[in-house]
Amino acid sequence: MSQCEDAFGTYEKCDFAEGMELEKKEQKKAPKGAAPSHLPLSPERAIALLYVLLAVAFVFFMALTIVNLQRVSAVWEELKRARMHTESSHTTAWYNLSEVQHSLGQQLSGDLQVIQGQLLRVSREVENVWRNLTQCRAECGEELSDRLRVLAAEKPWLEVVLRQLTEVEQEQSRALALLNASLEETRGLSARFEALRLRAGCPTGWQEFATSCYFFSTDAKPWLTARNYCTNHKAHLVIIDNEEENGFLARHITDNQVFWLGLSDTESEGNWQWVDRRSRSFLSWNNGEPNDAGHDGEDCAIIYSNGRWNDIGCSSNEAWICEQTF
Ligand code: BGC
Ligand code: CA
Repeated sequence: MSQCEDAFGTYEKCDFAEGMELEKKEQKKAPKGAAPSHLPLSPERAIALLYVLLAVAFVFFMALTIVNLQRVSAVWEELKRARMHTESSHTTAWYNLSEVQHSLGQQLSGDLQVIQGQLLRVSREVENVWRNLTQCRAECGEELSDRLRVLAAEKPWLEVVLRQLTEVEQEQSRALALLNASLEETRGLSARFEALRLRAGCPTGWQEFATSCYFFSTDAKPWLTARNYCTNHKAHLVIIDNEEENGFLARHITDNQVFWLGLSDTESEGNWQWVDRRSRSFLSWNNGEPNDAGHDGEDCAIIYSNGRWNDIGCSSNEAWICEQTF
């Protein structure tokens, strides 16, 4: 225990005496000539030091407070801004929500109105149909019975018409049978006529070949006159169907003789047609013919003694051959 602890109220002196004592001890330990490690701290200096420390602490505290205040104010500002932003977001969201609500409400009410209108229309139509049906039940019944009465009145007359129709039908069948019989008779007659004609042969001056009679003219006329001549004699200007017929004709033609054929292209140049307007595959044009030579062209055909054909002007006067088919 230290001596200083016994004496009440002398702590400071004791401490100070102890300090002095310690200082002396340290001076003895230190080598000679070395400076003392620090100056002795007087009470005034200590108090001053304390004040200084207090001032520094105060300044430090104030600085800290200011800094913290600034921070707090910055945070406060931030919070204010955040709050304002949140408020504005809330306002916008609320506005949008109310807009959506409003438009939805409008749309829904519009749709509802449309549906309501349609329902009204449908119910009116149903009402109309029902009214018509009710009305018709009475009127239609009357109309139907009227029609039935008319039909019943017309029945006898209809029966008469039906009977007449049956009679007409029977008459028609009888007429058809008669017609068939007549046709058969005609066929028989024409067969008999054909047999007689065959027995009689071709008219005088006409040559027979296969199933035709041929007339070789001695006169010379333009093609049209020759064609009319044949027509007037129940014949036509000769039509050559095949090589055999062509050969038969050629054999009846002497050298330097030519005869009109029933062949021309007067209707359409180059489109050669027989007088019956039916086409045939057999042709016997001379080499280089038909050539439509000359100023006026050549539209009617002739046959030479060698059986070859040529086209010449139709107005030329030539002999001709008529053909009469059995
Ligand atoms: C020609 C024929 C023509 C005839 C007229 C002959 O010399 O070869 O094509 O039709 O003359 O006369
Ligand atoms: Ca010619």
